[in-house]
Amino acid sequence: MILLKINPLNPNKEKIRIAAEAINKGNLVAFPTETVYGLGADATNSDAVLKIFKAKNRPLDNPIIVHISSIDQLEYVARDIPEVAYILTKKFWPGPLSIVLKRNEKIAKETSAGLDTVSVRLPMHPIALELINQSFKPIAAPSANKSGRPSPTTAKHVLEDFSEEIDVIIDGGRTIFGVESTVIDLTKENPVLLRPGALPINVIEKEIGKITIPDFAKGFKVDVENIAVTSPGIKYRHYAPQKPLILIEGDEEKIVSMMKKIIDEKSAQGKKVGIIGSEETINKIKIDNVIAEILGSRKNLFTIAYNLFSKLRKIDHEVDVIIAEGYPEYGIGLTVMNRLRKAASEIILA
Ligand code: TXA
Ligand code: MG
Repeated sequence: MILLKINPLNPNKEKIRIAAEAINKGNLVAFPTETVYGLGADATNSDAVLKIFKAKNRPLDNPIIVHISSIDQLEYVARDIPEVAYILTKKFWPGPLSIVLKRNEKIAKETSAGLDTVSVRLPMHPIALELINQSFKPIAAPSANKSGRPSPTTAKHVLEDFSEEIDVIIDGGRTIFGVESTVIDLTKENPVLLRPGALPINVIEKEIGKITIPDFAKGFKVDVENIAVTSPGIKYRHYAPQKPLILIEGDEEKIVSMMKKIIDEKSAQGKKVGIIGSEETINKIKIDNVIAEILGSRKNLFTIAYNLFSKLRKIDHEVDVIIAEGYPEYGIGLTVMNRLRKAASEIILA
């Protein structure tokens, strides 16, 4: 495995050439995007894409997002592209929005897990763009974590989950948003949210009107059989720390008293308890022997989203049980709640 340290603001082209050559040889490259680190391979090469599934332990029916470096490449990746796709790409690309369209045959069917659709995104991170440009290939890249684990926002997180399975790891520092892209399905009569992400839904709705938000996009466990066909990824537990995570939802005051109660219960059982929450909530709970990780203020949920995965990974090493709080489901708050519910082993309504 080769580790390349690259300045994200002024990427060294020679170093990126090494990574681009690895992509062209059908090998795996982990690289930063503005959302999270991706584990990339040539999206047109079945064998290369299968290496991603194997390295991640990813179920073969969970499709992978394809990354391009200019809007012109969209037609190489997708077909029968509706007008609404151009409205969205003009406004939000490059950036943290993935759109699901009909797949062009040039994209390996393994990339889309056999579906006739493809999820595409044009990232804004300079290293990601340079890598795609130099390899002359659309790059299939899921988040660079073992399947089910919190997504990586630093190269160190990638190295926690992988070693020799990856050929090249680019360390370009911490990612910008800290959560994955928003995924919208444009193959239906009306746009459907498949995964809330770094680009809030209300911002997208200003451009194209109402987007359907199914229950699974809020992170709730759902009747798998019915929806698995359109977005297989949703049926798997995700973003999970190794320790149990108890999520407490409800209004702020009730969350605080319920949190105290659970802390007492777990501590009495001899467990080391960790809280991952807002500064407002944590300031109200001053209990000895509890490890507290502040995600940010409830007044700025973007910061909460930015810190979520890295703090989840950190606290996981330090405690036996993790307690987290719920947030308002509006804007980026919906993204935070999706990740927390999927990471939770138990949800309590306060
Ligand atoms: O920000 C991101 O999107 C990151 C970075 C690396 O770009 N990538 C990422 O990929 O989060 P991944 O594989 O961890 O998540 C892809 C999501 C999954 O929920 C998957 O089910 C869905 O997108 N998806 C991908 N292709 C799809 C398709 N053709 N139809 C429906 N859902 C699709
Ligand atoms: Mg992922």
